[in-house]
Amino acid sequence: DAGKGEYDHYMLKEIHNQPTALSNTIEGRVENGDVAFEALPAGSFAEIETVQLVACGTSYHAAMYGAQLLREAGLRTEVVRASEYDSTAGPVDENTLVVAVTQSGETADTLDAVRTATDRGARSLAVTNVVGSTAAREADDAVYIRAGPEVGVAATKTYSSQAVTLALLTQRIAADVPEATPAADREEMLAELEHLPDYVDQMLEFTEAAELADDLLDSESYFFIGNGLSRSVALEGALKFKEITYEHAEGFASGQLKHGPLALVTEASPIFAVVTGDGDEKTKTNAIEAQSRGAPIVAVGPDDHALVDVADATLSVPDTHPVWAGLLANVQLQLVSYHAADMLGRPIDKPRNLAKSVTVE
Ligand code: AGP
Repeated sequence: DAGKGEYDHYMLKEIHNQPTALSNTIEGRVENGDVAFEALPAGSFAEIETVQLVACGTSYHAAMYGAQLLREAGLRTEVVRASEYDSTAGPVDENTLVVAVTQSGETADTLDAVRTATDRGARSLAVTNVVGSTAAREADDAVYIRAGPEVGVAATKTYSSQAVTLALLTQRIAADVPEATPAADREEMLAELEHLPDYVDQMLEFTEAAELADDLLDSESYFFIGNGLSRSVALEGALKFKEITYEHAEGFASGQLKHGPLALVTEASPIFAVVTGDGDEKTKTNAIEAQSRGAPIVAVGPDDHALVDVADATLSVPDTHPVWAGLLANVQLQLVSYHAADMLGRPIDKPRNLAKSVTVE
């Protein structure tokens, strides 16, 4: 169904399509506790010593998520904003895997970064949604995230499917590289992944996000903080919020708040604190700093999250493995952004000045 169907906007349709998108992303890739990708048989990554992820915008946030998992698996990993590749990327050689994370497969900055890396000898892999896209055609290999067409300019289901694909890819690479260590609890993690589409489905019935958007709509600024894997979610939450509401929103690693941004915190700047795993104590300390300046704290996490005793409001997520919990938190933040933008009457599917695919550098 190419239309909006029962939904007012493509963005809302695509948020609601996430259980199906995630089921498709996972299908046939996890079997008996192992991860398999059709195009990448066991041993494909045996020569890889370094992984370099390049991406822009939401795809960059998914790449951050993947990069942390790759590092945790003991792989030397770098995540580079594609537009800054020339000035910030480290050296590459034939033992480097450069991974282009791009929904469209057509983002000029990302294509340029991969071309630069491959000219320098790196092997390339496209992680993309679009079969036959330039990234897929130019890279040595391609893995499809299988999220289905995304029409809304604001990326939603593709972030979730990219992050899951990168988590699976991490396990695939770690199984091949002798120095790497696949996650110790990988069977439990992969078993929980099978439930992820159902958890998202449950969350789509929650009304908290719409109520909260209504409560907070008169604020001056909206801040999003998180640590570890939750940092990617905080940055993505802020990007989505500003992109479709046109309100001032910023995302930070929790510990950065006190190094400057705290000067902007007032009672009119709610803090969305993403608390879905390790490192949440640091988020708590920094959230309390903001709260003591009057800012309301919205905790986004499972029922027993680290801010239970201090949060002013909660956006709850089903209890799951910490590797997937951030992706559920992100669904709540997608809904907050959507409802806030809707209440403000913004053109949600086509925000001003933005295009779905950015084909200029
Ligand atoms: C996010 O909502 C935007 N649409 C934007 O940041 C996007 O993720 C970025 O332009 C990268 O696009 P790509 O994934 O198609 O490369």
